[in-house]
Amino acid sequence: LLLENAQQLVLVCGRGEEYLLRDGCARLAVLRDASLVVGLDGRIKAVGQADVIRQQFSGAMFERRIDCSGKCVLPGLVDAHTHPVWAGDRVHEFAMKLAGASYMEIHQAGGGIHFTVEHTRKATEEELFSTFKHRLARMQRAGSTLVECKSGYGLNLEAELKMLRVIERAQRSLDIGISSTYCGAHSVPKGKTAAEATDDIVKNHLPKLRELKQSGEIHVNNIDVFCEKGVFDLESTRRILQAGKDIGLQINFHGDELHPMRSAELGAELGARAISHLEEVSDEGIAAMARAKCAAVLLPTTAYMLRLKQPRARKMLEEGVIVALGSDFNPNAYCLSMPMVMHLACVNMKMSMNEALAAATINAAYALGKSDTHGSIETGKQGDLLVINSSRWEHLIYQFGGHDSLIDYVIVKGKVVYQNERCGTMSSY
Ligand code: NIG
Ligand code: FE
Repeated sequence: LLLENAQQLVLVCGRGEEYLLRDGCARLAVLRDASLVVGLDGRIKAVGQADVIRQQFSGAMFERRIDCSGKCVLPGLVDAHTHPVWAGDRVHEFAMKLAGASYMEIHQAGGGIHFTVEHTRKATEEELFSTFKHRLARMQRAGSTLVECKSGYGLNLEAELKMLRVIERAQRSLDIGISSTYCGAHSVPKGKTAAEATDDIVKNHLPKLRELKQSGEIHVNNIDVFCEKGVFDLESTRRILQAGKDIGLQINFHGDELHPMRSAELGAELGARAISHLEEVSDEGIAAMARAKCAAVLLPTTAYMLRLKQPRARKMLEEGVIVALGSDFNPNAYCLSMPMVMHLACVNMKMSMNEALAAATINAAYALGKSDTHGSIETGKQGDLLVINSSRWEHLIYQFGGHDSLIDYVIVKGKVVYQNERCGTMSSY
């Protein structure tokens, strides 16, 4: 595949960086009038000035060439936090929240995650796969090429495995990158105490997962816990995460969202790859995360929809934390679009557009342990790319909700997986 003559080719970074800190974001790597070649193996073969690439490949045959004159090429977006496998939407609860009910009030009254668990347990694998597939296609049309996907609406072993099998099937059969997360500790199931649920996970779920991982039936990458007052406390969280780490999973969990829990301190101590939410993180927690190179996955949709206080992105950036972004797509926060997430991060969390793009590409890839192959346009990395129909890449963030008309092509491993019908007309009016 050849992408030719791009007005801007946004590499994000170009020297093998694993992540970008605040200063690195300020110097985002962008080429002008540039071209890019992806080989048949799906990896980026060459990237550089258009005339240089033209000469270098003058005799070469391409399966496909796309003229990107006047357009921008960016790395595919990475969504570092989603809950996309479930049945039973919660639009009725959205109305309750607008009328003043809080997230925890609804949860404690048996709604929220409990409602979704009830419906997800009843759904067949086929039903779950079919809705999941549509959601992934929508994410892809909005520019996501690598998505973290959690279980967590089964809670018992059987239903959690059902969700993980659905994720596995998508991993094997669809043209989108997936990082799979076991989140059996998403909520304390009805009829159990948190201590009993913790025991069940450590003694039954994780040994089974280890077995399925070893036999190659299920490829789980990460372990997650909802560490929150009234859900899993710090000690249960520690037990579960440590047991997950012991079977080879990367730690990537929900912490310090609604109450200060010292989740960040715990994550840093356990060697977590990433912690999500962090609206209520302490100063010590921020410092510990920076030292441990533990990424902060910020979720602007949730803070916005639940009208929470915003996580302190500026403070984290100033203290040297690796800041990433996720959509948190779930029945509470129904948003599939990383361009909208970046926009919210800029307006509500005061991030710059460069910082938001780095957070939604290289840093999100780092949060999933995949920044050696994903998250930037560099030779040797996977050819996951976006072509946007605008002469400046920042339009992807600036045009709130405008990604539908802006994104011309989404490319995964060098293959065009989405092409906009309107492709070709300028969208910068
Ligand atoms: O990241 N906070 C916990 N988990 C999800 C919400 C899941 C749900 O409400 O169904 C989150 O916001
Ligand atoms: Fe979440």
